Amino acid sequence: MRITVVGTGYVGLVSGVCFAEFGFEVVCVDNNAAKIDRLRRGHVPIYEPGLSKLLRKNATAGRLTFTTDARSVVIDADIVFIAVGTPSNPDGSVDLSYVYQSVEEIFPSVNKTAVLVIKSTVPVGTTAAVKGFLRSRGVEVDVAFNPEFLKEGAAIEDFMHPDRVILGVESPNAKKILSQVYRPLYVFNTPIIFTNLETAELSKYASNTFLAMKVTFINEIANLCEVCGADVNEVAIAMGLDRRIGDRFLQAGPGYGGSCFPKDTSALEDFSAKLGVDMPLARETIRSNNARRIRMVEKILRACDNEVNEKNIAVLGVTFKANTDDMRESPSIDIVGALTTRGAHLRIYDPSFSEQAKQIFQGIDFSDNAYDCCNEADAVIILTDWSEFRAINLRELNRRVRNPLLIDLRNIYTLSEVSAAGFNYCSVGRAFEKLKSAKEFVVE
Ligand code: UDX
Repeated sequence: MRITVVGTGYVGLVSGVCFAEFGFEVVCVDNNAAKIDRLRRGHVPIYEPGLSKLLRKNATAGRLTFTTDARSVVIDADIVFIAVGTPSNPDGSVDLSYVYQSVEEIFPSVNKTAVLVIKSTVPVGTTAAVKGFLRSRGVEVDVAFNPEFLKEGAAIEDFMHPDRVILGVESPNAKKILSQVYRPLYVFNTPIIFTNLETAELSKYASNTFLAMKVTFINEIANLCEVCGADVNEVAIAMGLDRRIGDRFLQAGPGYGGSCFPKDTSALEDFSAKLGVDMPLARETIRSNNARRIRMVEKILRACDNEVNEKNIAVLGVTFKANTDDMRESPSIDIVGALTTRGAHLRIYDPSFSEQAKQIFQGIDFSDNAYDCCNEADAVIILTDWSEFRAINLRELNRRVRNPLLIDLRNIYTLSEVSAAGFNYCSVGRAFEKLKSAKEFVVE
């Protein structure tokens, strides 16, 4: 089985490397020559734990190669995956230009018995439209749609042990070839769902929008907890024990970010509206999540006695979530911006040492560890739930700060452990406890 993957972003590169790990012969294609050159030298341009090692292993084994010349490889391919970006347009619709550019580039050479599989997240009807586009160019080739459900920071695990594989096909040939490609997952009894193109396309948007809605729901419950005395972490546990709800994606925080939830919720609302179907839940999820950033700024200001001008504020974690260097749509962009505008002196530490973050937050100091970041701080804000933030020596932190205030927007800590270290503590979905002269609580 010879596989070509067009696009070497998060989805394309992880998919290509993992298909090679399955034992298939894989060629990854990108029109960015510099990127292909780095990949050939084993350098992975994205922060994805374990990807470099797996790439090098399979490249060394001769199963994985990289090229900019798409036409030269699709001739021999049994299956071609299109895994290029589908970014949002300003109006929330999906930019499909990269999908059509890649199809336009390869169609003259594509092997007529091959299957052209779209893996990029595309609006319902796109795969069929691509088949029509090819037909208009005199090319009859099987098409299919195969959504990915890879979480950044866990992409390899999610690829190798998916909850399910969804395959939108419309021919026995496509079904046969895709069955062979995903046969290595049979060993884990992974459910393989064959369906039509439209169902497969919509399943991706429906899944992501539901997850975004679930996160937004627990964040709204957190708002209620703060005024009624409930603890949102405990409410989430109580909810999650119900198998109909499930305990994942119920962690309250500063709101969702990333390249997918925002893009996919907007796209679903957009293309459903174009089909005459209103999606108020998707619309309200977007609105509520956007408003949350402002709510987080207000929370921080309240915790700082409504004055941050000339105050030193340490920010621990700025990427949109842990285990990534990705800053796309990260809540930190709005939150850090608002505090800076109000005259605060920010200092940032992020374990990914994200270059994107340094570009976005130019002029703001970056530390190379959490402790130095908190020196002389009037407030410490935890914005991203990196595991290293779960074991901070709070007493050491208390010795470094100028004012013992911890604003934990990921609820990593509890009031008791934080106050025992002499901090005032503010979190999400739990009543704000402003301890009097917290220093007296320090237990030597
Ligand atoms: C998501 C989907 O999970 C994945 O299936 C799809 O393929 C791509 O989009 P990703 O965007 O990488 O993956 O991150 P995810 O782990 O889903 O988190 C998305 C956002 O929700 C992050 O900002 C995260 O901090 C937030 N989140 C997630 C919460 O606030 N609480 C949670 O309990 C879970």
